[in-house]
Amino acid sequence: QNVFQGRSVLAEKDFTAAELEYLVDFGLHLKALKKAGIPHHYLEGKNIALLFEKSSTRTRSAFTTAAIDLGAHPEYLGQNDIQLGKKESTSDTAKVLGSMFDGIEFRGFKQSDAEILARDSGVPVWNGLTDEWHPTQMLADFMTIKENFGKIKGLTLTFMGDGRNNVAHSLLVTGAILGVNVHIVSPKVLFPSDEIQNLAKKFAAKSGAELLITDDLDEGMKGSNIVYTDVWVSMGENNWKQRIDELLPYQVNMAALKKTGTPEDQLIFMHCLPAFHNTDTQYGKEIKEKYGLSEMEVTDEVFTSKYGRQFEEAENRMHSIKAMMAATLGNLFIPRV
Ligand code: CP
Ligand code: NVA
Repeated sequence: QNVFQGRSVLAEKDFTAAELEYLVDFGLHLKALKKAGIPHHYLEGKNIALLFEKSSTRTRSAFTTAAIDLGAHPEYLGQNDIQLGKKESTSDTAKVLGSMFDGIEFRGFKQSDAEILARDSGVPVWNGLTDEWHPTQMLADFMTIKENFGKIKGLTLTFMGDGRNNVAHSLLVTGAILGVNVHIVSPKVLFPSDEIQNLAKKFAAKSGAELLITDDLDEGMKGSNIVYTDVWVSMGENNWKQRIDELLPYQVNMAALKKTGTPEDQLIFMHCLPAFHNTDTQYGKEIKEKYGLSEMEVTDEVFTSKYGRQFEEAENRMHSIKAMMAATLGNLFIPRV
């Protein structure tokens, strides 16, 4: 009966629009339960492994608190804590973890590692970000969008920045599945690959979403309800100078927001975080010193404006990850979606 039971969540493309919408709505429901102080121990007695090859604030915290709220035990296994990748293959690690844990979160570099873990562990594996996709971010993002607009389908979302990173890929494909018009605005060298574009087009043909990949700011911003950006240099990369040169014209600032032409109450700004909007960080100080820049992908003015929804989005990581774990592991009665 439950179409989610036992399934891994590795990439959005493996889910239908109805399934993704169900998880978003379930996240909203669990958020209401949490706010009302109503317990929801759907994973009582389960053990959850949290495997992190890259660092994390939100994803780690969201999985940890979500697991505890569901009555499960989360165990953090960081890059330097276990043998994975150094002394032991992903496949062998998968077999061991699968014999002890009921579910595994994986954040790392290679999507193929997430796939091997899912194939060889025998338990649900949840992708907490790879170089290619960030599916749990999408559940929180579209939950935030639904909270703000009361709907998802038919809205227009513009992602401005590195069109080849995990978040850009995920927004393009998830938006296409859900019937959201997605614009990717970036220099040509950072356009999503043909493979990703073709995948998104296939879904868009079904949902009616209109997709636009452009290096033209005016065209890309026009009519947008959601302006989204992400760091210019993702984890695992180090090409600051090159990215600044490529992406400086694509900074989300007030002038860029104006280009949407969207009424103020129909426009929001989103960012998966962490964000480079001031010099309050070590990187911030270094970039300021080396390149004279104190803001990168988004100005502090936009970040702190009434349009910003980044912290609601961050909170929703927990509620939506909870929904995903409960749906795939909780033996819940979920009527056909
Ligand atoms: N948005 C996000 O995934 O944040 P973390 O890297 O802090 O987990
Ligand atoms: N694109 C970013 C997302 C961080 C949540 C990265 O991979 O570092």
